[in-house]
Amino acid sequence: MKRIVILISGRGSNMERLIHAERQGELAKARVVAVLANRPDAPGLAHAAAAGIPVFVVDHRDYPDRESFDAALIAAIDPHQPDLVALAGFMRVLSAGFTRHYAERLMNIHPSLLPAFPGLHTHRRALEAGVRLHGCTAHFVTPALDHGPIILQAAVPVFDGDDEDTLAARVLAQEHSIYPLAVRWFMEGRLRIVDQRVEARGRQQEDALYAPRFA
Ligand code: GAR
Repeated sequence: MKRIVILISGRGSNMERLIHAERQGELAKARVVAVLANRPDAPGLAHAAAAGIPVFVVDHRDYPDRESFDAALIAAIDPHQPDLVALAGFMRVLSAGFTRHYAERLMNIHPSLLPAFPGLHTHRRALEAGVRLHGCTAHFVTPALDHGPIILQAAVPVFDGDDEDTLAARVLAQEHSIYPLAVRWFMEGRLRIVDQRVEARGRQQEDALYAPRFA
């Protein structure tokens, strides 16, 4: 049985999707063994606890700097012996030391088609830039913020009249599809990082397109 630790900061809808997928047997033989938040009031914690998953808080405000916070995070995560640490709306920038500690077993879901729009306010920036396609990216995390090797992406159209909320909702629906799929591929041992790119055994051409195919 492979072990997943999920890190959240807020609502936790991607975490919910991962837990749901796990319960449906869609994550191969993987189990969500803990959920950790950097905010005691993260709404997602209640859902995880109700699902019977141990929850933990490491409040970033209790630490003077990034390094000491990340050391505390590692100390909270490692006893759960994760095969994968999945960031699901975890809104803290992680130190290079943290990303190296979990190299090739640290994944994130980001609400843009990386490398476009790394960082915050991706939907607003997509609207301001006038792009006609926007989307989301499941990727491995490396020290370079939002620039790790890309596993899966899903694109959505941007419609005239969209605002941040309508666009975010359209993208979020795709996040909920591709993140569990990326985790499943990881758990099936199908992913390999070669020269900063992800080779996914059995990936079909359609998996790279809008509305990815579900293997
Ligand atoms: C999601 O849209 C996720 O992609 C984004 O935060 C939201 C969290 O929602 N993550 C980032 O921006 C990370 N850079 P959720 O808590 O409902 O999953």
